[in-house]
Amino acid sequence: MPTPLPVLHDWRLSVDYEGIAWALMDREGESANSMGRRFTEELGEIVKFVEDAGRQGEVKGLVIMSAKKSGFLVGADIREFESFDTEARVTEVVIQTLQLFDRIEKLPVPVVAAIHGYCLGGGLELALACHYRIADRDEATRLGFPEVKLGIFPGLNGTVRSIQLAGPMDAMTAMLTGRILRPAAARAMGLIDQLVQSKHNLRWAARKAVLQKRRSKGAPWWKQLMLKQPVRSYLAKQMRAKTAAKVREDHYPAPYRLIDLFEQYGDDPARMKAAETEMFAPLMASEASRNLRRVFMLSEMLKDEAPKDGFKPKRVHVVGAGTMGGDIAAWCVVCGMQASLQDLDAAQTKKALARAKGLFAKQLRSKQAVDAAVGRLVADPEGKHVKHADVVIEAIVEKLEVKQTLFQELEAKMKPGAVLATNTSSLRLEDIAKPLKDPGRLVGLHFFNPVAQLPLVEVVHGEGTREEEVRKACTFVTAIKKLPLVVKSCPGFLVNRVLTPYMMEAVKRLAEGTPRDKIDQAALKFGMPMGPLELMDMVGLDIAYKVGEELGSKNPEDNPLSRLVKAGKLGKKTGEGFYVWEEGKPKREEAIYDAADLDRLGGELIEPMLDECERALADGIVANADHVDAGVIFGTGFAPFRGGPLHYRRKQDAEARASAAAA
Ligand code: NAI
Repeated sequence: MPTPLPVLHDWRLSVDYEGIAWALMDREGESANSMGRRFTEELGEIVKFVEDAGRQGEVKGLVIMSAKKSGFLVGADIREFESFDTEARVTEVVIQTLQLFDRIEKLPVPVVAAIHGYCLGGGLELALACHYRIADRDEATRLGFPEVKLGIFPGLNGTVRSIQLAGPMDAMTAMLTGRILRPAAARAMGLIDQLVQSKHNLRWAARKAVLQKRRSKGAPWWKQLMLKQPVRSYLAKQMRAKTAAKVREDHYPAPYRLIDLFEQYGDDPARMKAAETEMFAPLMASEASRNLRRVFMLSEMLKDEAPKDGFKPKRVHVVGAGTMGGDIAAWCVVCGMQASLQDLDAAQTKKALARAKGLFAKQLRSKQAVDAAVGRLVADPEGKHVKHADVVIEAIVEKLEVKQTLFQELEAKMKPGAVLATNTSSLRLEDIAKPLKDPGRLVGLHFFNPVAQLPLVEVVHGEGTREEEVRKACTFVTAIKKLPLVVKSCPGFLVNRVLTPYMMEAVKRLAEGTPRDKIDQAALKFGMPMGPLELMDMVGLDIAYKVGEELGSKNPEDNPLSRLVKAGKLGKKTGEGFYVWEEGKPKREEAIYDAADLDRLGGELIEPMLDECERALADGIVANADHVDAGVIFGTGFAPFRGGPLHYRRKQDAEARASAAAA
């Protein structure tokens, strides 16, 4: 009697007339495949089936692929991570999956992974446990190990297998940076054995690979030589230096532990496999990883603000080709949209178009893609494209009457259903909307400078703004690969409102005599991406001063900020502010300060920001505390490993209560 096929929910398993078992990942009720508990258990049943049927000669091989449009497998199901709260629990779950992957590797018949779309983290580790890997060259196909971004490293023996296949340099770089690879790059490294043109060729290629019993050859001898000592330790040292230039070990230990693992066991796969689990479990159970997973969930939460159906923005018209408008239009084009750019000043538009070309060259790989992008961005001094636009964004001078006049003109020309938005950072939305025939139409789309780099856009909801317009604006923001944060119209919205007291605290400390470099070092040690004084220099001290005043900060006449502004020392743009700037970099002092002192100062600098976050929450500026945390992390870069300002404060409060109770 033939071996019975198991009954599955998250997979589809069939055996064709040639004896090839096709295991298609298709998680029930989900648009993408991830490794949830049932999914993994069912993979166990598939493996058992192939073990039995393979022994009976009923099955010649196994192909693992996806039935989902979205792609192969995005890795572990992060939503289930919360149950991994202790090292023992992590180890228990990981070992079960490791044993399963080992059984796949040992199957007596060829096992082929056929990859289209995202193949990430645990998904790539599953593919690496197969005997042979084929991927298509589709634009949607991407492979990689993003684990470090979640405070961990690959824990399903992906460290060992990727090094065996790609050699230490390529594999470690991929794991340490979390960089997502195109199929051709993965093939060049050795993670993939064969490429096919499109997903339609995958099945045929997989069939052939099974019938011809193809097996990956592994890294060539010269790459394996790098695993020997003393080369391995030399490489580890280099990797540590490169990592240290990017992240601190006390904040982000995962890449450092990965380098330790490689250095200690790189030439002994069996010991490295065991050590991988031993080093992985404490990372997975750590506070930092829990917080980084929280950050990931917060980004998903913001994306969910945008309805997926209905509004499909394709054409954008931007008025104002200055710092913001030019970059907003260029970014929309990078994301595949058509954009027209309107300005009174032709020279400004010309400059913006030249800057856009630079951005296209950086963001888009091929000359063909860059040329196409150049073609999608047009100068439109008379606003002829307004009537075709799905989204119209104003980014002109910050003057109420000028904006009001422009909006009346735009409203008259726009098509029904298009989004009408302002990028204002300080004017009241209600005032700008007043002369409009339909004031409920106006939303704020508050981008941050530099547009290409900062992931957040505040979607501002004025008193009269219709909910529907806010939702459409959110859909637009996600369409240009940014995160929308819905905020109520108020001075500074959320991000500038909470940043200002923090920056003013830094100025106050400086005025009181705390050294400049000590202040910025303390903020870095806390986990901020940049010190507050350097940040102000970058933004421009005139702007920082004005925003501070608008938000009610009183700058004494003789404080360091006022003095610099008066002297025309406005920061990076004038070559001097709090720092002297040379070749785009601030000249820092090499002073070393006491670590405990820096910790205390860092906490004190951040305090006013936390207080303001509490006030913004109480004022209902955003929906809830998670939205405050998300906005402040993605808008200011607030130490992601701390899980967000309010999350951090709640934890501090809980610790204080616990130690008071213990005393
Ligand atoms: P900018 O001064 O660099 O550019 C403004 C552009 O608008 C100039 O090219 C000017 O010729 C043009 N313009 C003025 N009146 C016009 C009109 N009636 N029709 C067409 N074009 C006109 O200004 P920037 O910095 O780009 O700011 C623009 C808006 O974005 C402002 O509302 C500002 O508050 C806001 N914003 C600025 C940020 C920044 O960091 N610079 C950040 C977020 C928002």
